[in-house]
Amino acid sequence: MPNNESTSAQLDRRAFAKTAAAVGVAAAATSSGPFVRKAKASDQVVNYAMIGPGSRGRRLLERHLVHMDHGKCIALCDVYDKNLQRALEVFEDQPRAYTDYNELLQQDDIDAVFITVPLFLHFPVMKAALEAGKHVFCEKSLVFTPQEVHALRTLHELHPDLTIQVGLQRRYSLLYQRAKELVDAGAIGEITHIQAQWHRNTNWRRKASEEFEDQFNWRLYRRYSGGLCAELMSHQVDVADWMLDQHPKSVMGVGGLDYWKDGRDIYDNIQLVFEYPGGQKLQYSSIMTNRHIAGRRVPGDGCRETILGTDGSIELTLIPYGDGMLYFDAMEVKMEDQAKEKSSEENWVAGATVGTDTAEQGDGYPIDPHAVDPSKVSFIEKELFFAKTWAYNKGILRPSEDVDPEYAELSSFLKDVANGNRPKADIDVGLQDSVAVMLANLAMDEQRKVAFSEISEMGLDGVEVSSSETGKTTG
Ligand SMILES: NC(=O)c1ccc[n+]([C@@H]2O[C@H](COP(=O)([O-])OP(=O)(O)OC[C@H]3O[C@@H](n4cnc5c(N)ncnc54)[C@H](O)[C@@H]3O)[C@@H](O)[C@H]2O)c1
Repeated sequence: MPNNESTSAQLDRRAFAKTAAAVGVAAAATSSGPFVRKAKASDQVVNYAMIGPGSRGRRLLERHLVHMDHGKCIALCDVYDKNLQRALEVFEDQPRAYTDYNELLQQDDIDAVFITVPLFLHFPVMKAALEAGKHVFCEKSLVFTPQEVHALRTLHELHPDLTIQVGLQRRYSLLYQRAKELVDAGAIGEITHIQAQWHRNTNWRRKASEEFEDQFNWRLYRRYSGGLCAELMSHQVDVADWMLDQHPKSVMGVGGLDYWKDGRDIYDNIQLVFEYPGGQKLQYSSIMTNRHIAGRRVPGDGCRETILGTDGSIELTLIPYGDGMLYFDAMEVKMEDQAKEKSSEENWVAGATVGTDTAEQGDGYPIDPHAVDPSKVSFIEKELFFAKTWAYNKGILRPSEDVDPEYAELSSFLKDVANGNRPKADIDVGLQDSVAVMLANLAMDEQRKVAFSEISEMGLDGVEVSSSETGKTTG
């Protein structure tokens, strides 16, 4: 925490001014036009089903969906009876139960489906759902193979009025949205690098007899899973894309299976560098043998995204709960200023242009997800905000989100289905994210720098998709 109160107060005002500017930016950026036809009147309840209520699906049902009154779970489907029964028990008014998702999808009273099956099944289930006219929420990573990237785009073109949302919940976090507003408002200058990591000291293995090994431990095998890239990195490369408003142009990396040699065939440690069109780099690391983070404030998984700009940094995590810090570190001489400077002996002698230290960085400022624009609120609200900010900076209070981003992503999906709005984590976000997962794995497998443009030439042998309304088929 800052040790000089007056400097601290001064910087609070500075952070606050940038924050306020960011609020204006956000207001302009969030106004989006209508996207799909309304599934129902916007005040009506969306009837939904879930396919694959395993560990993730049940969490979404019992922590969040069951508490929403703008959606009603009317059907559940799972091939594993124990998981099906546990999910059914979440509801007092029990949904109908299915073991065949095609049979479930034939039911006319279902408007939307949540797809929480293992990665290799995302596309086949999504395809069947869209062809049956259902709106889709599918967990990340959206699709598994290059064929499926092209085929899902085609399916979307054939069914443009059906909502597709991917389960990238950081897009629905107010904290991350605040960070994006700060970035867009220039609070940390020009972003040149992003560092992200998700380190764990765990084996990721579920107890299973031989008969259930593949079914329970699908994550550990390449035939079903994209490994650490799909399960963890997918969230964080999406944060980088979002903060930079760009997608990577290339990726290179090193992956290894060096510790958990228990029959799995995915990497248990990955190190990657993504390069963006503006020259920015995302340096990424995920390991399964240690979860330490230097300077950690939040206990739990070693998960963090750090956005590095010419005037400061933003550090974010959603694990185990949302936490964000803003550090100011203004670069003294910018490239454009330097270009204007004439070289002079005086400068050379004084060493004025070759200093290594910039202004003192300080301990940083907690990012408040609920910051307000002082020009738009009452005197009391403004004073309250300053008081809260003071308490955050003293470490007396910790800013937190009022709404869990998982709750927000699910609630928002149901509202978007009802209102015909495009989701924040839409098909484009989901497909771009899946491409990053596939190409990162390819770069490590083939030990080369992979260009993102390569995806357009991959998987062109296609998956046949059809439109239930037009009967059109396409590859
Ligand atoms: N967004 C996040 O933070 C997050 C977190 C965890 C998992 N996930 C994603 O959620 C998905 C599921 O992960 P999980 O850990 O819950 O897996 P899981 O193995 O616990 O659950 C998958 C469920 O799907 C069922 N299933 C398999 N084949 C089926 C079929 N043909 N028809 C119906 N049901 C079928 C299984 O029986 C199981 O109950 C994965 O894509 C994973 O990446 C996302």
